[in-house]
Formats: sequence, C-alpha cells, structure tokens
Amino acid sequence: MVELAFSILAADFARLGEEIATAERGGGTIVHVDVMDGHFVPNITFGPPVVKAIRPLTKLPLDCHLMIENPDAYIADFAAAGADILCVHQEVCRHLHRTLQQIAVHGMKPAVVINPATPVEMLIEVLPMLHHVLIMSVNPGFGGQKFLPLALDKIAHLVELREDLGLNFRIEVDGGVAHDTVAQVVEAGADMLVAGSAIFAPGNPDKTIANAQEFLKL
Ligand code: DX5
Ligand code: ZN
Repeated sequence: MVELAFSILAADFARLGEEIATAERGGGTIVHVDVMDGHFVPNITFGPPVVKAIRPLTKLPLDCHLMIENPDAYIADFAAAGADILCVHQEVCRHLHRTLQQIAVHGMKPAVVINPATPVEMLIEVLPMLHHVLIMSVNPGFGGQKFLPLALDKIAHLVELREDLGLNFRIEVDGGVAHDTVAQVVEAGADMLVAGSAIFAPGNPDKTIANAQEFLKL
C-alpha cells in the first residue's frame, strides 16, 4: 500500500493541530516532521517540544526526519516527546549501526535517509535493521524544491535489493513529490510518499483535502 506522509513544514505552524486533522481527512496516514538545525541544512525548524505538542492531537505515526548534526544526542528527547519513527541522515552518522540500535532501544522505529549525492550502497549492511529507507529527491533544507529524477533509479535499485535480500523495509521518497511527479515515484516502487507544498493550502482546508485526495488517486 502506498501511503501519504504529509510534511507539516508546509502547514500553518500556528494551527498545526487543525492542519494535521485536515490532511488526515484527505487520506494522509503519516505525519512527516522535518527537523532542521541550521548546521546540517541551512534552515531551522522545530524540535522535540513541537513533537510533544502535536503528539496528543493525532493518532497517526510521527515520522521524524532529522536534518541535524549529531542526532545521537537527541534520540532520548525525541522518544520522550512521542516520536514513532526516527530517521537519521547517513551523512552525519559516523557509527550508523549504533545510532540505529539506540533508536530501537528507545522504542522507536529506525530509518535512514540519504541525500541525492549518496549512493544506496552505503546502506547495505544496515538494511535489515530498518523500518524504511528515505531517498531524498531534493537537497534537504527547504520545501517547494524541484524533484531530482536521479531518485528514480535509486528507488528501483532499492526495490531490487529488498527482493534479493528477502527484506521488508519500506521505501520513502521526499522532496518535490507533487502532482506531476508522483506517478513516476510510485511506478519506480516507492511506498511512502512525503509531500508538503503539494498538499497544504494554509487557511484553506477544503483545498488541502482536495489536494491530498487528488494526490492519492493513483
Ligand atoms: C526537505 C524536507 C521535505 C520537505 C518536502 O528538506 O525534508 O520533507 O518538507 O517539501 P515539498 O513536498 O514541498 O518538496
Ligand atoms: Zn523530510
């Protein structure tokens, strides 16, 4: 089943609870939380306090995408805040295996994300530990960027690896997944679609619902 992980980065931050409920009504089944630190990526968003604030407002899983240096230092904080899935960038983890173990020890599902320049091969040894692999289809840091087609081959490659290794991790794609690119992404084999600007129309819940429904018509 292909799921919509809606990115609250594109929502109205002053009304996060309502925005999440609206996207859920449109068919979204995962809340994608983009955590940025101004170091690993040139932008700053939010952290564990915001995760904690939205936790009681929805039953949907909170999929936290950490675009931060030194994610190990924050694993316990995200677990305490109520994150369900913690996704760390391969590029910042010197001991990725240990980081993933720690995420699991803290009761969350571990996931790894790779930038456009990072090959899928970097993850081979840890694939059996993962809830999902997140393929970035833009360079991380901002919503509303243009989809990079190089992600398509990476998705297809991961599908093959999953088959060959007899594993069942999911494949998530993030960045520029919009009405004009979603079909190719699904065709390549993605099963979790992150979308922010293609879904949220702040101040216009009917439009947000329509966007999500349209997006899921595959
Ligand atoms: C980018 C973030 C994405 C972003 C996607 O660094 O990781 O999750 O919110 O936004 P859109 O869907 O607008 O490309
Ligand atoms: Zn993201």
